[in-house]
Amino acid sequence: MVGKSVISLDDLSLPQIRELLHKAQYIDSHRREVAHTCDGRVLATLFYEPSTRTRLSFETAMLRLGGKVIGFAGSQLSSASKGESIADTLKTVSNYVDVVAIRHPKEGAALVASRAASVPVINAGDGGHMHPTQTLADLATLQSRFGRVTNLTVGLCGDLMFGRTVHSLIETLCRFGNVRFVLISPDELKTPQYVLDRINATPSCSYVEVKDLVSVIGDLDVLYMTRVQQERFFNEDDYLRLRDTYILDEDKLQLAKPDMAVLHPLPRINEIAVEVDNDPRAAYFEQVKNGMLMRMALESSVVGDELPGYVPLESK
Ligand code: CP
Repeated sequence: MVGKSVISLDDLSLPQIRELLHKAQYIDSHRREVAHTCDGRVLATLFYEPSTRTRLSFETAMLRLGGKVIGFAGSQLSSASKGESIADTLKTVSNYVDVVAIRHPKEGAALVASRAASVPVINAGDGGHMHPTQTLADLATLQSRFGRVTNLTVGLCGDLMFGRTVHSLIETLCRFGNVRFVLISPDELKTPQYVLDRINATPSCSYVEVKDLVSVIGDLDVLYMTRVQQERFFNEDDYLRLRDTYILDEDKLQLAKPDMAVLHPLPRINEIAVEVDNDPRAAYFEQVKNGMLMRMALESSVVGDELPGYVPLESK
């Protein structure tokens, strides 16, 4: 994994993803031991789009490993505002740092960045395309809730068209196999065909598309709620009409399995009533913690720094 850019989780093998899950568990229980793993390293966070969790967790991940962080949050404070290309920015920043995390509103921007950079580039979200490190957080949460990421019925609900976390998660779960997807969305926000093709190409996986959450919630092991992505809509009226299509509350949760896990990449707007936060099925703030741990595992891996005392899964 040393030196590797991660634009999609397809860039990592399943054994590498399993190793990251294992590393993140180790990091969680050995925080002091790993605190100098990345001494002398520098991370750049280049965020051309707003973020709370992803940027701050990438940054605290490097800080907690002993490294340092530079970067910008908002392209108006960088030379992108003067017209500098992503490629020139990455050729420049590669001289300053050991690893880059980039978020950009355009699909494909992270790939362009990785081709120009001479250090590993991690995609922190490119438009409506992919968000691989969110998927690492999601996998860690499934693993901790169920002890597995396969043999699950996974409902994904809301904006399945623009929700990049949905696309990354489906893509990766298909690689693990044995997942039944229940895709819950209004007609206007259905899952893109390239994502459905991915499920169709996986014999052990299947999907159904439905519009009604209540009629399927009782079948689900996982309910992955998503926000309607206002920033990707061309038409404000469409956003206003669709934004509150699905609201998960305690009444709906009464119809769900007692051990169903509710995930959400956050930020939430109205999709999950605040009352649900106290339900033991709510797993979305665990996802936040897992996101930081998985980014610690990924950053240390791509820069090639060994976690002190860590025994790789592959050698067990
Ligand atoms: N889940 C996620 O990407 O959150 P932010 O947009 O706050 O980074």
